[in-house]
Amino acid sequence: MSNTTEAGFNHSAALKALKTQAAATTRAADGGCDLRRRQGGILLDARRQHLHPADLQALLAFADDAAFDEQRRRLFAGERVNHTEERAVLHSALRASGDDLERWSGSKPDRQSVRELVMDTRRRMQCLVEDVHLGRRTGYSGARFTDIVNIGIGGSHLGPELIVDALADQALLRTHFLSNIDGHRLSALLRSLDPTRTLFVIASKSFTTLETALNAEAARSWFLERTANREAIGNHFVAVSNNVDAALEFGLDGANVLPMGDWVGGRFSLWSAVGLSIALALGWDAFSDLLEGARSIDKHFESAPAADNLPLLMALLDLWNIQVRGCTSHAVLSYDERLRLLPDFLQQLEMESNGKSIDGDAEPVDYPTQPVLWGGVGTNGQHAYHQQLHQGTGAYWADFIVCRAVDHNYPELHQSLAANALAQSQAMAVGREHADPHRRVSGQNPSSLWVLDELSPTTLGQLLSLFEHKTFCLGILWNINSFDQWGVELGKVLAVPIAAALAGQRESDAIDDSVARSQVEYLGH
Ligand code: F6P
Repeated sequence: MSNTTEAGFNHSAALKALKTQAAATTRAADGGCDLRRRQGGILLDARRQHLHPADLQALLAFADDAAFDEQRRRLFAGERVNHTEERAVLHSALRASGDDLERWSGSKPDRQSVRELVMDTRRRMQCLVEDVHLGRRTGYSGARFTDIVNIGIGGSHLGPELIVDALADQALLRTHFLSNIDGHRLSALLRSLDPTRTLFVIASKSFTTLETALNAEAARSWFLERTANREAIGNHFVAVSNNVDAALEFGLDGANVLPMGDWVGGRFSLWSAVGLSIALALGWDAFSDLLEGARSIDKHFESAPAADNLPLLMALLDLWNIQVRGCTSHAVLSYDERLRLLPDFLQQLEMESNGKSIDGDAEPVDYPTQPVLWGGVGTNGQHAYHQQLHQGTGAYWADFIVCRAVDHNYPELHQSLAANALAQSQAMAVGREHADPHRRVSGQNPSSLWVLDELSPTTLGQLLSLFEHKTFCLGILWNINSFDQWGVELGKVLAVPIAAALAGQRESDAIDDSVARSQVEYLGH
């Protein structure tokens, strides 16, 4: 097993050394790192992480040996860092300013230059969004749009839904998200819509994703049944895809298909035309602010030295918890209900990116990589799973997310919410001595506190791009490719003969597994 980069750095040996060194480090009771960093409108307070200054130095040396600087350079230079798919990874270009995009003007991974594609798509998105908001683009009957339906899944759904949900009080149009292939959801949603006032956005990078294809077809049939007007599809359906031909085949004309490059991964794509439903829901200015927030973090990530680089520090904290403290889960606890979908977004971002066990040399790793990421909202969780966090077995770390600004008329509730976040993190860290072991809380569980000055498009852009870059940094530290997702392909392939057998179109013997074959018998009609 090699786990060794071209430069000769052995990740496996170095990760083991990190653990040995940590065990040997003498720690004064109050000797933790005073790790607090502010970037834009966000503060990270990591003082409750179990990190000694010597540990941080060792982690920074590890990042240096793992060629952090060089890998970061390759990312921003548009090199094919997604080496298993031979693709550049350019989500930062999607939020770059016109001037900054100059650096990618000669970069043509996709025939058209990155700069041209980004600028052209932004222009088209802005026109479409403003036309809808100003009533220049209406439904076929002339009625203004009141409802947007984003049909997409994974990266073509989670980011836009998180942002629209988080900023719902600023919404200009009702915006719905249809992702799952579950007829219950589809019928409930369609029942609530007026076809003459609904704009469907079909978001799919590949335009081959089963769930999105089935939901889009069902939505189109519903629309045609009610309007009997095929021409009207042009008013009511827009697509976002890298597979423009497939979107045209669906029945759309080119003016209603917004492209995206193959150099943006699905889970990093909310900044592309996949963000159309965000812009439609919240307005073009809000979408621009979101990009601007992310751009400020790109600049920080690209230029800050390792010791001050927030995404890298975030990754090093995770690495420490996973490799040295043996954590197998990461809880994201949002003490702001508007961020209730953040754990879902981060689940895809981190688990689809780094839930891998083969390294950059196609060798199996012998160290743990991405743990389970999960979470929910405080204070609800305190009356449910926090019991396990305080007294269960199994090592974890937590991120508490709170907002300073009060955007409602109940400041006392806001204070109570914040107090609970701080109290939970204190209980996790300090615990409680008690003569009765049942009442004892051991403490010693690390956590970080995130404080957003306010919840705005800008701070959301900053927050999500911090986590995006952290995810890439972890890939560097583990020597894995964070940008492919071969593991999710198998289930898609296996579902094809099973679906055909359930539909009675094929014998079940095409299914290559006896248990699945017999299960088809009792699920079939
Ligand atoms: O199944 C996983 C996945 O490939 C994700 O990576 C992606 O975000 C999602 O499916 C949706 O893909 P698409 O945008 O191509 O429909």
